[in-house]
Amino acid sequence: MARELHYSSKKSGASTSSIAPRLLISLLCLASLLLCFSLFRNDVASPSLTYSAAPEKINGNCNHSDGRWIYDHSVRSPPRYDQTCKEIFKGWNCIAGNKSNAIDILKWRWKPYGCNLAPFEPLQFLENFRDTNIGFVGDSLNRNMFVSLFCTLKQFSAEVKKWRPVGADRGFTFVKYNLTIAYHRTNLLARYGRWSASSSGGMLESLGYKEGYRIDVDLPDGTWAEAPSFHDILVFNTGHWWWAPSKFDPVKSPMLFFEKGVPVTPPIAPDAGLDKVLTHMVSYVQKIARPNAILFFRTQSPRHFEGGDWDQGGSCPRLQPLVPQEVEQFFSVEKNGTNVETRLVNQHLEKALRGSNFKILDITHLSEFRADAHPSTAGGKRHDDCMHWCLPGLTDTWNDLFIAHLNGIKLRN
Ligand SMILES: *[C@@H]1O[C@H](CO)[C@@H](O)[C@H](O)[C@H]1NC(C)=O
Ligand SMILES: *[C@@H]1O[C@H](CO)[C@@H](O)[C@H](O)[C@H]1NC(C)=O
Ligand SMILES: *[C@@H]1O[C@H](CO)[C@@H](O)[C@H](O)[C@H]1NC(C)=O
Ligand SMILES: *[C@@H]1O[C@H](CO)[C@@H](O)[C@H](O)[C@H]1NC(C)=O
Repeated sequence: MARELHYSSKKSGASTSSIAPRLLISLLCLASLLLCFSLFRNDVASPSLTYSAAPEKINGNCNHSDGRWIYDHSVRSPPRYDQTCKEIFKGWNCIAGNKSNAIDILKWRWKPYGCNLAPFEPLQFLENFRDTNIGFVGDSLNRNMFVSLFCTLKQFSAEVKKWRPVGADRGFTFVKYNLTIAYHRTNLLARYGRWSASSSGGMLESLGYKEGYRIDVDLPDGTWAEAPSFHDILVFNTGHWWWAPSKFDPVKSPMLFFEKGVPVTPPIAPDAGLDKVLTHMVSYVQKIARPNAILFFRTQSPRHFEGGDWDQGGSCPRLQPLVPQEVEQFFSVEKNGTNVETRLVNQHLEKALRGSNFKILDITHLSEFRADAHPSTAGGKRHDDCMHWCLPGLTDTWNDLFIAHLNGIKLRN
């Protein structure tokens, strides 16, 4: 009885037919607070109840990236994986690192307006995606997401074979299901390396350049160049390194862009270089991807430095998500805050992906709230880490969104 009611209240989400079941729920709540509590707990403890209701809506009217975080006191079950998962990089292991809110982070649940985000069911996922290869291609934030998926699946299918597809940083096959997931590390997507002036001169030398980084906008990094011919599903990202003056110092070691092997002249700024790289990489992937490949580009992951950037003593001491007004202060492009690059990167992505086969995995806005979910000082770091995410933690929700998208696609095919 309770299950039926619960199911219909979820399913009705945004539609007008929701009034009747909602009314019924409200009456029941009035009549019995106890029952209401148990309904609420079911919501958390039995994700299977909601599973079939949500996926087809992912591409419907409901925008899963538009919503709010709700604190669930009732979360009693253990996290979907814990600090013993060996793939968790020490600096991200907030439970083992004794971060004071490491468990509290997990009690916040993302609630899109007008529908529900189905928590994903690992066993069903493993069944549905037998004989499949999934590649994460990008910077350490994509590794953070990869580790979350690995640890989740490992809880349900412990027999794992470690191996790496060509160029991959790490990879694993869940043997029972012949499902492989791999992480391909690349900072800029394009190939790059140190450049210094040649004594025999050249275009850049004549403009006074002595040192820098050569970035070939039309050549994929070797770590993932083969990945699209191997994986059935790919999740790309890039962003943080394009706004990293500590490495690509605009004066001492600027980004120098090359196309077809020759310098782009006049030299262009990093944001114009990013546009070129994205255009080339999107077309490269589409050209060599497997026939039925599913391609995702993940939007930018926000950082939450306050009181300065990472190398200026910036920190992220908050124990609660930001409220909407704070989100605007942190990320509004007009206010040029410490973490302004987040939305700027997304503008470039949207432009480059328009008209392509890529689906956008939009995790930015929901992540913007989560100033509380970074490792900060956990694990004894020299600088606060307000860029990566505690695991278990926020990237579990990114995977919920990713899997919900995938299930939506599978259902339609
Ligand atoms: C979905 O919501 C997010 C966050 O509010 C917003 O940035 C995005 O533009 C929305 N997407 C669509 C397709 O409306
Ligand atoms: C975390 O706390 C436990 C128990 O108090 C302690 O044994 C451990 O050394 C601490 N870990 C770190 C990284 O501080
Ligand atoms: C595992 O999956 C791959 C496709 O990703 C397939 O080519 C291969 O034959 C499968 N292996 C087995 C033993 O089924
Ligand atoms: C934004 O702030 C940075 C330093 O925080 C500064 O270097 C840059 O010039 C500012 N940009 C604009 C458009 O105000």
